Amino acid sequence: MAKSTTAFTCTACGASHKKWAGRCDACGAWNTIVEEAPLSQGPGRGLGAHKGRAVPLSSLQTTEAPPPRHLAGMDELDRVLGGGLVPGSAVLVGGDPGIGKSTLLLQGAAAFARRGLQAVYISGEEASAQVRMRAQRLGLADAPVRLGSETNLRDILTTLDNERPDLAIIDSVQTLWSDQVEAAPGSVAQVRAAAHELVTFAKRKGVAIFLVGHVTKEGQIAGPRVVEHMVDTVIYFEGERGHQFRILRSVKNRFGPADEIGVFEMTGSGLAEVANPSALFLSERGQPVPGSAVFAGIEGTRPVLTEVQALVAPSTLASPRRTVVGLDSGRVSTILAVLEARCGIPFAGLDVFLNVAGGMRVNEPAADLAIAGALLSAREDSALPPDAVLFGEISLSGALRPVAQAENRLKEAQKLGFSQAILPDSQKVEGAGGMGTRRIADLTGFVGEVFGAG
Ligand code: TYD
Ligand code: MG
Repeated sequence: MAKSTTAFTCTACGASHKKWAGRCDACGAWNTIVEEAPLSQGPGRGLGAHKGRAVPLSSLQTTEAPPPRHLAGMDELDRVLGGGLVPGSAVLVGGDPGIGKSTLLLQGAAAFARRGLQAVYISGEEASAQVRMRAQRLGLADAPVRLGSETNLRDILTTLDNERPDLAIIDSVQTLWSDQVEAAPGSVAQVRAAAHELVTFAKRKGVAIFLVGHVTKEGQIAGPRVVEHMVDTVIYFEGERGHQFRILRSVKNRFGPADEIGVFEMTGSGLAEVANPSALFLSERGQPVPGSAVFAGIEGTRPVLTEVQALVAPSTLASPRRTVVGLDSGRVSTILAVLEARCGIPFAGLDVFLNVAGGMRVNEPAADLAIAGALLSAREDSALPPDAVLFGEISLSGALRPVAQAENRLKEAQKLGFSQAILPDSQKVEGAGGMGTRRIADLTGFVGEVFGAG
């Protein structure tokens, strides 16, 4: 047997290197290079000497109808999948340990199974009895889901090949091991080999596969990002510890729009769908409070209102605190710098805390104006108009830039009882409905208009 030579792989981008280095040349990440057996020693089937065969090529035209999608009947899940499950697709579901991935997928499997699909749930983390107990508690015991408890990749593939279900759930990819790869379960080599084999199986046999992946503290699916490239759809299950809301977000989807979200609530009897997230995220609003701004956002194809909350207080620290939850902290720093440089409003010597209510994450640049609004309102100790929503992107010059889908944002705000919107001057709006619009050219104008100072 040929002696296997070791290679070094970057866990961030998957690039391979001849020798170890502190920094990956390919992606620039530090301390991400690990030693592993090269892939060709692993799961490949005779990648060796014989000549390849010619692949038949075809034209782009098709007479075939697109494959039917299967609906789970859980609207929040179906939407995030891009309008139902595509047969033979591979879906990666990532999230922190304990966030509810197993619960979601057990409920999803049961929902698909009750609609006549053959569903198999393979757990590598829990014994079948444990999964059965959970199913009982969730009221799913009668759903025709077939359960298995296994971590050996070869045995799992053989089982799936015999059963040929419509969908299979593998919980989790980090527990799998293949005897053809000399590395511990959970290592880059094992995770990559297992994902590769399962995705290939899904395509060849038309079995839709859900892979569960735990993410590390840095927010990456543990081990390689390469798993993300292999699968058709990547969805993350997010939420703040201590909040009962869980957000399912598609970050990649070959079969539908990405950035769709589904909102769930973790209850004593599993995950409950939240059909109107705006109402939920705003439900705690009472009297107008300084530091609160309502952002009219868009998540995927759906408008969602969220409340940005800020607290600004004198700091005793040499470098004041900037604590940001649910927003991009780089974005927040930029907005603080623009407020300081363009409007002459300093935040030096002040601690800044920013938070999106309800455990939601907002990534849209359109949230800039709401962030600035919350910051200014907290700093001036003056509440924004309670019936107003805000949206608009802030450029480095302090000017406000228009954003997409203004009409949808306004419609959602109106539906939830808001009567005015503060938005960029340059924003085109075709029909604001009954909403009043306050148009602002730049951040200085915003300070003058809303806080009566310039
Ligand atoms: P789980 O699905 O096991 O998380 P993951 O697979 O992502 O690691 O969910 C575990 C958490 O969910 C656990 O802390 C308890 C909570 N939970 C409920 O609150 N209600 C329920 O009905 C269930 C099944 C779990
Ligand atoms: Mg789990």
